[in-house]
Formats: sequence, C-alpha cells, structure tokens
Amino acid sequence: MALLSAGADGSHGKEEGTRLKNLEDAKVVVAGGAGGVGEGIVLALLRQRARVVVTSRSEAKLRELQTLCRDVGTGELIPLVGDLSTEAAARELQNRLHAIFREVDVVVASLGSWWQGSPLTSVDVLVWERILQDNLTCNLLAVKVLVPLLAPKTGRYVHINSFSAEQSLPQAGPMAMVAAAQKSMALTLAEELKPVGIRVFELILGPVKTRQRARTGNARPDWYSSEEVGDYVVGLLTGSNKEVVHHLLRKR
Ligand SMILES: NC(=O)c1ccc[n+]([C@@H]2O[C@H](COP(=O)([O-])OP(=O)(O)OC[C@H]3O[C@@H](n4cnc5c(N)ncnc54)[C@H](OP(=O)(O)O)[C@@H]3O)[C@@H](O)[C@H]2O)c1
Repeated sequence: MALLSAGADGSHGKEEGTRLKNLEDAKVVVAGGAGGVGEGIVLALLRQRARVVVTSRSEAKLRELQTLCRDVGTGELIPLVGDLSTEAAARELQNRLHAIFREVDVVVASLGSWWQGSPLTSVDVLVWERILQDNLTCNLLAVKVLVPLLAPKTGRYVHINSFSAEQSLPQAGPMAMVAAAQKSMALTLAEELKPVGIRVFELILGPVKTRQRARTGNARPDWYSSEEVGDYVVGLLTGSNKEVVHHLLRKR
C-alpha cells in the first residue's frame, strides 16, 4: 500500500510546484459521492476528465448516480459498494481502492446524515450514538483508510462540512457538535499532513440546493447548488489557495 512515506519523489505528472494543474486522468475518490451534495462534486470532477471512484453502501444509489452522470461524456465514473461504518468494513474498502488505483490524487469526503428534532435536554442517547456514527466515526474512518492511499507531496483531501460547525443550531444541537468536531478534525489533519506535503481543505457549506430539494421546490434562490459546490471544489484543487478553511454559504 502506498503509505505516506512511500514514493515521495514529487514526480506526479500533474504537479506544478505543489499544485495540480488540472484534473485530467486524476485518480479521485469521493466518499459519499452518491449523496445530495456529493453527486454535484462527482459531476464537476467528471467534467474535468477525472477518474472518479464513488463509494456508497447502496448499489441502488450508485446506479442512480451512473444514470445522472451518463451524459457527461468525459472522465470515468467507477462505482464501488463499501461502508465506512466500522473499521473492518473501512479496511476492506481501502484494499479494494488500492486494487483499483494503487495511489490516489484526491479524496473528497462528503459524509453525514442530517438530524433535527429536540433540544439538547431531551436528545435520545440512541439517536445521539447514531449521529456520532454517521457523522464523526465514518469521517474518522475515512481519514484512517483514505489518507494512506494519497500521493505524498501532491495529494489533496477535501472535507465537506456544514455551517453548523460554526453556529448554534437549536433543536439540532448534536449536529452542530459533530460539525464542530469535524472542523477540528480537518484542522488537525492539515497540520499532521503538512510535513508530507498533502494539502487538506475544509469546505464549510450553507444550505445546499440539492437535486432532491430543487425537484420538490424546497430550496431558496440564494442557496448554492450541488454542482456549484462541485465547481468550487475543482477550483480549490487546481488553484493556488493555501488556506485550509473555506466557506460557500449563500449567494449575495
Ligand atoms: N444538504 C445540505 O444542504 C448541506 C448543507 C451544508 C453541508 N452539507 C454537508 O454535505 C455533506 C453531505 O451531506 P448531504 O446533504 O449530501 O447528505 P446525504 O445526501 O445524506 O449524503 C451523505 C452521504 O454520507 C454517507 N454516509 C452517511 N452515513 C454513513 C456511514 N455510517 N457510513 C458510510 N457512509 C455514510 C451516505 O452514504 P451512502 O451512499 O452509503 O448512503 C451518503 O452518501 C455533509 O458533510 C453535510 O454536513 C450538506
């Protein structure tokens, strides 16, 4: 397995200093790429001609994503059923990704599940544990198994997060707590990966006009669409911005 210390010769074809010039043929993994935000990121990456493995627990969601991406005509979409809920399942996913790509240029983690329902004083502990599992544990496991696949010096890790990382969210306190913890995780990861030259981006989003929300009319005109989020991610990956934390909240 291409661990951080291996193959650090800086000879990556797309490297320009420490920057990816473009994403053509770049080997990308989008964990959660079959989700509402993730699918827009996948579309944007395919338009840049990247080779994109999308992981999901659901074959049906991956099939739907394939249909959505059918007309893009560039890049390559490689669906991969896998789970990040347990360490064993995550290791299994890592082995399969290693067999596909050996080394990865970019990881995007767009993982989580939303919950809103009660004030902190009455949060059910079983609900709390599910929120921790879907939002924190699976993001930690993504870091554990996907970072070691990244190419030293040129690798990029993009963590997608929510504005609730920085705002209180009455009736959805646990979501704000796990989002704040994820931001902390991304900041720590950025420091830890600095010595090997892998860059980490934390992208904090406002409410997103996902395809489902657009279909049901449940979105506001000042919300960015998933595909606009995807375009922003492409800009982060190919630009020269060195900041870790980025915000894409609402259109002016
Ligand atoms: N939607 C918004 O308005 C919005 C706004 C701000 C920020 N965000 C952020 O965007 C990211 C994605 O959200 P989304 O709206 O796209 O949600 P989504 O449609 O529910 O997709 C989330 C993805 O997370 C994966 N996931 C959840 N629990 C998992 C687990 N235990 N193990 C493995 N995978 C798991 C799901 O994978 P499967 O495919 O396996 O089900 C799914 O593809 C989150 O970080 C969220 O905070 C979303």
